[in-house]
Parts: sequence; structure tokens; C-alpha cells
Amino acid sequence: MKDIILTGDRPTGRLHLGHYVGSLKNRVKMQNETDFEKMYVMIADSQALTDNFDNPEKIRENLIEVALDYLSVGLDPAKVTFFVQSQIPELTELTFYFLNLVTLSRLERNPTVKSEIKLRNFETSLPAGFLIYPVSQAADILLFDANIVPVGEDQEPMLEQARELARSFNNIYGKTFVEPKAVLPETKIARRMPGIDGGAKMSKSLGNAIYLADDKKTVKKKVMSMYTDPNHINIDDPGRVEGNIVFTYLDVFSKPEHFKEFLPDYENLDALKDHYRRGGLGDVKCKKFLIKVLEDELEPIRNKRADLEKDLEKVFDILEDGTRRAREAGQKKIEEVKKAMGINYFVDKDLIKTLQEKYK
Ligand code: TRP
Repeated sequence: MKDIILTGDRPTGRLHLGHYVGSLKNRVKMQNETDFEKMYVMIADSQALTDNFDNPEKIRENLIEVALDYLSVGLDPAKVTFFVQSQIPELTELTFYFLNLVTLSRLERNPTVKSEIKLRNFETSLPAGFLIYPVSQAADILLFDANIVPVGEDQEPMLEQARELARSFNNIYGKTFVEPKAVLPETKIARRMPGIDGGAKMSKSLGNAIYLADDKKTVKKKVMSMYTDPNHINIDDPGRVEGNIVFTYLDVFSKPEHFKEFLPDYENLDALKDHYRRGGLGDVKCKKFLIKVLEDELEPIRNKRADLEKDLEKVFDILEDGTRRAREAGQKKIEEVKKAMGINYFVDKDLIKTLQEKYK
């Protein structure tokens, strides 16, 4: 059996370099190099509403932003089925049946949800929909028979709950679901891309992100404000490259040919780092190089985005078409689910016959 891959994002903001390094690049690689049965990428708008129910406008705006980001990094609708969660009622249906198979105390133990509740000040008034979103996420995965779910580490508890739900359902109603597995980012940097301010992980709420849709000027400004080595005050001072975000980003994005093209005085990144450590190399020179390196990656993405922005109808068509195809798969699966549960009354032609026998 070939893999069925499914992943998704909440449309709560534009995607940034953290998403790019942590997941988008890997999705494009999977799309191009893996021989899979199906690859789904879902925009999890219903899930985003569980903590943004009072701001649906935000979710609607970001639905298209996220779709534009997906397409501009090179995810290909000919290979990937994109779909919008809220437009697949079978997901809600499955969630409702799954809710019978989980206890309140189990939901309250989910560590990711626990920390999110704190973060959102939901301790005293917790929306039920928020508490149960891992069940809905299990439905997202299981309705499509996905066995591979590429996600960040924080999503491992969701996968654990999805496996438990698959197991309980299979035990009670007969084998219906496969147990999915999370595939986590391979490198440390992919798991945690720091923001431009240094320490913390890049995130929208911390205001330390470089967005895929940022224009050239903005990228330049953000790089020029990047955290480097606070003790590297004069050019001649020896500098540290560890924890120096400019070098962290160069580690991720620079290629040997960038040196030939933009910084021919240095053979490679090691040579640049050596000079920085010795002293005599200024931050501005490194930052200017990083801007060129980043632009090499971001410019094609930005150009593609600009083209797509002019053809929003096409973007909507891609989402609509993917959603239709995903729904077809979901409808088939929910029939299987109802059959397993014995609630497919009008499809099961034997049922009426059995009843007729009984009342004869
Ligand atoms: N919870 C995920 C996130 O915040 C988004 C998501 C929703 C998801 N449903 C999913 C991811 C199913 C993978 C599979 O990033």
C-alpha cells in the first residue's frame, strides 16, 4: 500500500520562514520525490474558528493568504489535493461519532491543548469546541485514511489521540481506520527556526517573523535589525556565530554558489565564520550578504505570488476542485463508517428484509 499523506494549517495568518523551513519545503520535496497514493493539504478553518469564533473575518482573509502561500512555494494542485475543512460536512459527522469514544478527562490531559488553554486565558471559560478540537483533527486524518501526517512536534499529542480513536472505533465497530503516524521535521533548525530577535521561535504573535509575502524592502529592513552578537561592538572585536541569527539563517539558506556570486572574497560559509570569529568582519557586510541569499529564495516565491494575486479566481477554483475531490473520498469513507456502526439504514437493503421477516 502506498502512503496517503495529509497535513494542514490553521488559517490565522500569512505563512513565514519558520513554516517554510519547518514544513513547506518538505511538503514540496515530498510532492516531487515520494511515490504516494495521495497527498492532501487542508486549510483548517473550522479548527481556527475554535479559538477565533468571534473573528470569522480573520479566518476568511487568511484562507486565501495561506492558499497563495501554498501555491507560491511550489505546491502543485496537479499532485496535491488542497481542501477547505469547513466545506466537508462528513468531517463534522465523523467528529460527532468519535466524541462518544473519548472521555472529558482524556481531552483535558492533552498537553498541547493544556498549554494553549493557558495561552488563550481559557481557564475560566473554556469553549467546548476548543477542548474537543483534537477529536476533530483525528477525523481530519482518519476520514481520508491518511497513514503519514507531517507535522511539528507540538502535534504529536493530536496524533496520539487520533491513534487511540482509530483503535477504539476498530475495537467496537470492526476494522475501519488505519493508525496514522506523525512525521516530524528532521533537523533541529526545521523544528525550531528562530525569529529575527534571536532566542524565540519565529511566530506571528511575537512579531519576529519574515513572511513569504514580505516585499524586498521589508525583508531588507528585518535582516538589518537582526540579532547578532551583542558583544561584537567594533568591527575588530572577535565575534560569536553561535546564537547569532545572521549565521543561523546563513546555515539554512546559503549555498556555495552564493559566495561566488555575491561574496567572492570568501570561499564558503566556514571561511566567513572564521573571519567573524577572528574579528575584522562587520555585521553589516554579513547582513547584506544574507539579504541577497534570502532574496535568491524569496524572489521567485514573491513573483509567483504576485501572478496568483492577479488571478484569484484560479486560486479559488483550485480550492474548490480539491475540496470536491476530497469530499468524494470523505463521502465514501463515511458510508463505510456508518455501515460499520450499523446506521446505514437506507443503504442497507437487507435491513428491511430482516425486519419484514421479524414482523411476518
Ligand atoms: N493543528 C494543526 C496546526 O495547528 C492544523 C491541523 C488541523 C492539522 N487538522 C490537521 C495538521 C490534520 C495535520 C493533520 O498546525
